[in-house]
Amino acid sequence: MAKTIVVYGSSTGTCESIAQTIGEKLGAEVIEVTNLTAGQLEAADNILLGTSTWGAGDMQDDWYDGVATVKSVDLSGKKVAIFGCGDSASYSDTFCGGMKEVYDAAVEAGATVVGAVSTEGYEFDDSDAVVDGKFVGLALDDVNEDDKTADRIDAWLPTLGF
Ligand SMILES: Cc1cc2nc3c(=O)[nH]c(=O)nc-3n(C[C@H](O)[C@H](O)[C@H](O)COP(=O)(O)O)c2cc1C
Repeated sequence: MAKTIVVYGSSTGTCESIAQTIGEKLGAEVIEVTNLTAGQLEAADNILLGTSTWGAGDMQDDWYDGVATVKSVDLSGKKVAIFGCGDSASYSDTFCGGMKEVYDAAVEAGATVVGAVSTEGYEFDDSDAVVDGKFVGLALDDVNEDDKTADRIDAWLPTLGF
């Protein structure tokens, strides 16, 4: 059976809670990014990487070491999906931008990145996490749209092919 892991970085618990929800739905191991090892990535077939966004469109602090770990591994042949949480009202110019740095690390590591999401249904001005007209992964706004989070997760997970 394919092994799936969910790795997250979270400062105030929002992305952590989303990671736990996703982990339960997939029956996947959930790993806080500060505990992530190269061996855990190597042992997985499918990998979800989740980050909240801080500063001005930056990934969550703990991910700075985490992306180094991701880049140190050959992820070719593995599927990676990105998810993020942010605040599209207060940070409309950098909504969920932190996902882009995590995405770039996965691409650099040779992963097949799946799970791009249409920007339809979101209200924001700009985001580095939009590539070729789509979010590089699942953008969530639990600050203003927590009523949409469960449906967005349920619509997204089956698209990943995990
Ligand atoms: C100082 C500060 C900066 C933030 N910057 C952004 C940002 O640039 N883009 C964004 O979408 N959200 C931004 N946010 C919102 C957080 O990403 C959001 O509150 C998120 O749910 C936090 O998740 P966490 O508890 O998992 O870290 C910011 C929040 C704070 C307090």
